[in-house]
Amino acid sequence: MRIKVTENGPYLVSGNVPLAEQRIHVDSDDFCHGYDQGELCETGPTYALCRCGGSGSKPFCDGAHARTGFDGTETASGTPFDEQAREFEGPDMDLSDVRELCAGVRFCHRAGGTWDLVRHPKDPGDRRTAIEEVWDCPSGRLVAREKDGSAIEPDLEPSIGLIEDTQLETMGPIWVRGGIPVESADGRTYEVRNRVTLCRCGRSRNKPFCDGSHTG
Ligand code: FES
Repeated sequence: MRIKVTENGPYLVSGNVPLAEQRIHVDSDDFCHGYDQGELCETGPTYALCRCGGSGSKPFCDGAHARTGFDGTETASGTPFDEQAREFEGPDMDLSDVRELCAGVRFCHRAGGTWDLVRHPKDPGDRRTAIEEVWDCPSGRLVAREKDGSAIEPDLEPSIGLIEDTQLETMGPIWVRGGIPVESADGRTYEVRNRVTLCRCGRSRNKPFCDGSHTG
């Protein structure tokens, strides 16, 4: 399985990667909390996902990027997550955070916010809630850690989710799960991670990754 970023064009996905919509679930208190998965999309073993935001056949590329002159220049630094992360320490667990990767999907707002749940837990359930919020974070901006530094990560099948932000009624990013390598147009492989989000509105300033610009 592999995702190839093409120059000013789509993401070429190869290796029979499962593709399904992931709708953000909003709970009764109006907080984002988990996902509702849609049907698996029918694809061949390889397919091209739009990253310019202009396709009339979303999520797939229909060639609109060529007509609109899409500038898909990749601006992500390529610096590994651990070298960029800011660390937040708590009594039972720690949290690593790379704000530049934020996809703006707000799972970290619930129950007082992930940072407070980690740093100032008030009851035993706060650790579980913090981990739930981190695991819902599609971009991997947040990583929960045991006190020995080991990452607490969900077991994610290699697959792609098409995030729909039901609360803001907008299309969210492409959620790449389970360590599928993403290769730049010039042949570099970005750090392979369990959770990353790729821009599909064409407006991110951290291409190919989502920076939440679709919410603005
Ligand atoms: S990348 Fe081809 S139509 Fe958007």
